[in-house]
Parts: sequence; C-alpha cells; structure tokens
Amino acid sequence: MKGLLVYQSKHGTTEKVAQRMQNLLGEEYLLININTTSLPNLEEFDRIVIGGSIHAGAIQKKIQAFCKLNLDLLLQKEIGLFLSCMYKGDPALKQFETAYPESLIKHAKATAITGGEFLFSEMNWIEKIIVRKIVGVKESQSEINFNAIDDFIAHMTT
Ligand SMILES: Cc1cc2nc3c(=O)[nH]c(=O)nc-3n(C[C@H](O)[C@H](O)[C@H](O)COP(=O)(O)O)c2cc1C
Repeated sequence: MKGLLVYQSKHGTTEKVAQRMQNLLGEEYLLININTTSLPNLEEFDRIVIGGSIHAGAIQKKIQAFCKLNLDLLLQKEIGLFLSCMYKGDPALKQFETAYPESLIKHAKATAITGGEFLFSEMNWIEKIIVRKIVGVKESQSEINFNAIDDFIAHMTT
C-alpha cells in the first residue's frame, strides 16, 4: 500500500501535524508540502491524506484547488482529511465542512480537526494585530489535539 500525505501550512502547525502523522503511518507515506514541492502522479497511491489550515475562515486555496481538480481520482482512493484551526466544536466543524468538497468528506476513511496554534514569532504585523485585537489573544498558544491525531491514525490504518 503506497500512501501520500499532502499538506499546506502557513506558520508550521499543519506541517508539525503532518510530520507526526507520517511518523505514525509509516515510511510508505510520502510527505509533500504542496506549497514548495511538485506533486507526484496521484495514480501511484492507494491512500491519500490531505491537510491544511484555516486563516480568516478559509482553508488554503492550493488545497481547495487540489481537491477540486483531482476530485474524481480522489474518490477512488482511501482518503484522510484533516484541518488545523483554533475554533472548536460546531464552528470548527462548519469550517471543516466548507474546507473540503462534501463528496470527499462523505467518502473519507478518516477525518480530524487537529486543533491549532497561535505562533506570534511566525506572524506578520497584520496577523499580529488581528490576533491581538480581534481574537483577543496576546501570547503564543499551542492547542494541537493529539487525541484527534491518534483517532485519525487509528481510523486510517484499520
Ligand atoms: C491571522 C489569522 C487568522 C486565523 N483565522 C482563523 C479562523 O478564521 N478560524 C480558526 O479556527 N482559526 C483561525 N486561525 C488559527 C489558525 O488556524 C492556526 O493558527 C493554525 O494552527 C495555523 O496552522 P498553519 O500554521 O499550519 O497554517 C487564524 C490564525 C491567524 C494567525
């Protein structure tokens, strides 16, 4: 079984989660940052995990385009979908539902909302203002949901 893990990350959180998932899933998963590395031929893979993060209500455009462009092929594979975000509960679920195509969510073997981080050292000045003034968070926070990652891996590997 050959696996591919495709992700995009703005401040590094989704990258950390993707690396942890690759460690847990095993070496047969190829890890690809869609922002920096060209994609391999998707036909070669049996399982494809896709991950991105929410910034101002939406997942990265490249992840959206990847899902849309390859939807027919993705629907023939074993799929895992995960999302980094700071919202929790229903608002997080709503974000997840708009991040990925409905048919892909229904088809997925595993889905997860894996929490997120506010990393001030990685933010530009506009992001710092948004997070300080609008969100009301003044210091870096790390709220990666490791249980959600473990559940995701369990679903993906059974
Ligand atoms: C400017 C900014 C806007 C954000 N907007 C949202 C949002 O709309 N909803 C949400 O749940 N999280 C939001 N977040 C939190 C991110 O999803 C979180 O920082 C995540 O860990 C980023 O992952 P990444 O570093 O892989 O991009 C925002 C973070 C920043 C810095």
